[in-house]
Amino acid sequence: MTPAPLPGYHYDHPDLPASPVTADDFDGLAAATLFSDADVTALKLAGEVLADQTERILDVWYGFVGSHPHLLAYFSTPEGAPVSEYLAAVRLRFGQWIADTCTRPYDARWLAQQEEIALRHTSAKKNATDGARSVPHVPLRYLIAFVYPITATVRPFLAAKGHAEAEVEAMHQAWFKAVTLQVALWSRPYAGAAW
Ligand code: HEM
Repeated sequence: MTPAPLPGYHYDHPDLPASPVTADDFDGLAAATLFSDADVTALKLAGEVLADQTERILDVWYGFVGSHPHLLAYFSTPEGAPVSEYLAAVRLRFGQWIADTCTRPYDARWLAQQEEIALRHTSAKKNATDGARSVPHVPLRYLIAFVYPITATVRPFLAAKGHAEAEVEAMHQAWFKAVTLQVALWSRPYAGAAW
């Protein structure tokens, strides 16, 4: 049976707008993070290792956001009440993002999806996908700061399946690069011409 499409997940949607980021721009960023074919291979393995641990990873990340009122504010109404339907809808796509980061080819469509995720953190598209009544944008500084927790907290999950230390380290470094690359791409709509 084909699984039901994830609400608001438009990766494979024909109408997903192309990214203004070119393949050359991407190559430059990939080189700047030392992203290589070995990382693609390590991410594939990470995808297998993480697949059945997605909910536990999301519990950690959501626990982190939920325990910091100044972060939970971005999933809340302007008056400060958390919007549970919004949190739940985004959580499903966040889980899919883990798999996409590990298994999708980093091609033009992937770049288009990165631009879409970027815009969904800004006033251009935040809240629109889920019809949420929430604050209009996530500040760029928090996107950048989150590279650390999103990277550090994933290591125990990469190590949970008994792989050799060198393999775990390779998966973790590849993950770190992939998250850094994506946040660099997500900074584009915030930075405008300065990007
Ligand atoms: C949406 C990842 C930083 C708040 C999302 C989505 C992903 C994601 C995958 C779902 C995109 C989709 O709709 O398919 C990340 C990663 C981050 C990061 C990897 C940093 C490394 C943050 C921070 C906040 C935040 C710091 C605020 C505390 C949100 C919100 C949405 C969202 C509110 C929903 C946006 C909407 O209305 O569509 N994020 N995020 N994110 N994220 Fe982030």
